[in-house]
Amino acid sequence: MLCVWQFVNSNMMNEALFLLSLSLACIGLYGIIRRVERWFRSGYIKNFKNKHVLITGCDSGFGYMLAKRLDKLGMPVTATCLTEEGCERLESECSARLKAISLDVTNEEDVNDLKECLEYELREKGLYALVNNAGVSQPRVVAEVYWSKRGDIREVMDVNSTAMANITSKFLPLLSRANGRVINMTSASMRLPNPIGVTIAYVVSKAAASAFSDAFRILMKLDKRNVSLHIIEPGMYKTSVMDIERITKAYERGIERIPDSFKLKKTFEKHSANIIRSLREKFNNSASSNLDEVIDYYEHAILSKYPKKRYNKLGEPSVVLSYFPSIITDNILSKPALY
Ligand SMILES: NC(=O)c1ccc[n+]([C@@H]2O[C@H](COP(=O)([O-])OP(=O)(O)OC[C@H]3O[C@@H](n4cnc5c(N)ncnc54)[C@H](OP(=O)(O)O)[C@@H]3O)[C@@H](O)[C@H]2O)c1
Repeated sequence: MLCVWQFVNSNMMNEALFLLSLSLACIGLYGIIRRVERWFRSGYIKNFKNKHVLITGCDSGFGYMLAKRLDKLGMPVTATCLTEEGCERLESECSARLKAISLDVTNEEDVNDLKECLEYELREKGLYALVNNAGVSQPRVVAEVYWSKRGDIREVMDVNSTAMANITSKFLPLLSRANGRVINMTSASMRLPNPIGVTIAYVVSKAAASAFSDAFRILMKLDKRNVSLHIIEPGMYKTSVMDIERITKAYERGIERIPDSFKLKKTFEKHSANIIRSLREKFNNSASSNLDEVIDYYEHAILSKYPKKRYNKLGEPSVVLSYFPSIITDNILSKPALY
């Protein structure tokens, strides 16, 4: 009996050791593949100083930082800002190469004017890169599901996805002329919608932006156009897109929409206040201040000889959790304690 037990035990031990060595070998191999990939992708294109880049949403945050970074590298940049003040600030801080133009990405007339202007300026060399960066995190009014209106989601979709699709299509002939690249900003939050972190309108709009980018990339291949598409998918960073005061006002307007006669109005008020509190905590405790990480993704997508299809941070919780079965993720995200 003892012999049998020892035999089984040693067999189990051997199996465990074998599995452990196999796992370590897999981790080692993965590490080597990642290093080789990093080395392979590290080379930058040559002569980038005469390649023109167009960026949207440069008043603040990532767009503002990217415009300054590319200008410093010596690239000609057209940076569009929503406000005149944004344009003035950027032009005063950059070289004469950078041109800042005021543009609301949802305004067809603004987009057509810019297209005409760049078509003339870049008629020979074309547009090397288009960066669709402009974005908003919530509609003017964030209302409880029963009180939300069709226009609320549309408002965010207009900036984050419809404008992206429109601008990409409009500038395609210029991009084709330069065998160019389109870099589209989405968000890791669309992988694992967390109603505390972001509004449903935001998640929907970013998922649409991501799907558009994937579909457009395949279309470019089918059309045999030498234009590539790249997606930037960051987690949470401390920029004004997460301006808590602005978000609080949007939630307050949502509460105003509920008639006073509605019995659960007070409950909804409390629920909104809890979401804002959690959001503030999340922003203070978990949002990253290292905005340069995202600017590095942008720079690599624009300048690398072999840019990636999708840029996100290794180990980003939304990305990692999105591979788990929904029975786990739904349970984590719907814990009442979170609210
Ligand atoms: N920060 C994050 O955690 C995070 C995470 C994932 C993805 N993103 C995305 O990153 C992009 C840049 O955002 P950010 O974080 O750098 O925040 P940000 O500082 O608020 O930048 C967004 C920019 O878009 C501009 N904008 C808004 N509506 C516009 C419109 N209709 N037309 C033209 N420009 C418009 C804003 O102008 P105003 O400032 O004048 O409103 C602002 O300059 C956005 O697409 C955002 O969704 C951000």
